[in-house]
Amino acid sequence: MADSGRCFFASGRVNLLGAHIDYHGGCVLPVAVDRGIVVLARRRDDRRFRLASAQFPDVIAGELDALPDRAAAGWAAYPVGIFALLASEGRRLPGFDLVFAGDLPVGAGLSSSAALLVATATAVAALTDSEQSPIDAARLAFRAETGFVGVRCGIMDPFASALGRPGHALWLDCKDQSHDWLPLPVDRMAFVMLDSMTRRDLKQGGLNRRVEESLGALAVLQRELPGLTCLRDVAPEELDRRRDRLSPLQFQRARHVVTEVARVGRARELLRRGELLEFGQLMWASHLSSRHLYEVSTPRLDALQELALGHPACYGARLTGAGFGGCALAVVRPAAVEAFAEQVAAGFADRFGERPAVHALGFGQAPGEVHDA
Ligand code: GLA
Repeated sequence: MADSGRCFFASGRVNLLGAHIDYHGGCVLPVAVDRGIVVLARRRDDRRFRLASAQFPDVIAGELDALPDRAAAGWAAYPVGIFALLASEGRRLPGFDLVFAGDLPVGAGLSSSAALLVATATAVAALTDSEQSPIDAARLAFRAETGFVGVRCGIMDPFASALGRPGHALWLDCKDQSHDWLPLPVDRMAFVMLDSMTRRDLKQGGLNRRVEESLGALAVLQRELPGLTCLRDVAPEELDRRRDRLSPLQFQRARHVVTEVARVGRARELLRRGELLEFGQLMWASHLSSRHLYEVSTPRLDALQELALGHPACYGARLTGAGFGGCALAVVRPAAVEAFAEQVAAGFADRFGERPAVHALGFGQAPGEVHDA
């Protein structure tokens, strides 16, 4: 009988707070969500692969001994990146047929790429009977995205996908990779995704430019502060004192990072105490900083954030993910989700002539095999 394959799932994520600070060693607060990527996976024994996706028309096929480069792989650069990384570690893989599908919009800030990578890593480990912890999967995904796909992202997204836990945010220290799970007051907070209906492709470089600009600021500060390894360790006052050493753009980027690092620390305490109103204000401040200092927002994302804050049941809203389009996240009182969604969608449609997708998001789970119910 033909092998009909096995099915694996990995969650996407939203990030409650901590925009663009993971690659500066900061702490972040992502939550895995109940949307993600599934992969139907079958092992082959001829060291060939075939990769198909419900979201892209082209099937990418080839041999593990002659992997395509990132450009030739197209959308499949992510799974091919996993093969390439494992090969570079001396792993001899058998060959695979993988078919991807999912309910995460691509390029929308909900981490479809990390979910794709973590789902692939999970499937490959299972089909080759290899031991792989969730952290191993996250690290492999991170190295494939930075090393093969060429996006200079941080570790947040694959860790959030691999370590998601219902009812909790992941508290992740991106400097030393230590982490913990922060229980959330789930009966009082619902997550609503507000889609600006525009997409970006991080492979095209918006994120990489921000990484370069902000690392430029770090390089200047390192000349004065020996031993400094990342912007996360610069206090806001320390940065202000050195403002004249940086270009205006470098100062702006670094100022976002150091203030966002401080906001996340405070957010953790507020969430622990269930103080959602104050937490919501930090989301608002984070959005403004992402908009004006880091400049990763768009007029549509700003409109969604403002419309969200205009509803009395909304605690806070901010762009989530890299920005440059994609989604905003709102934290809302659960009983008011429908009325909130309707008001925001109508206001957005008035302004942009198009209704945004607005969905409540539940909690995701750790990656793994999907079994029949
Ligand atoms: C993208 C990157 C992450 C992170 C966010 C912004 O999702 O992949 O590493 O930098 O943007 O917070």
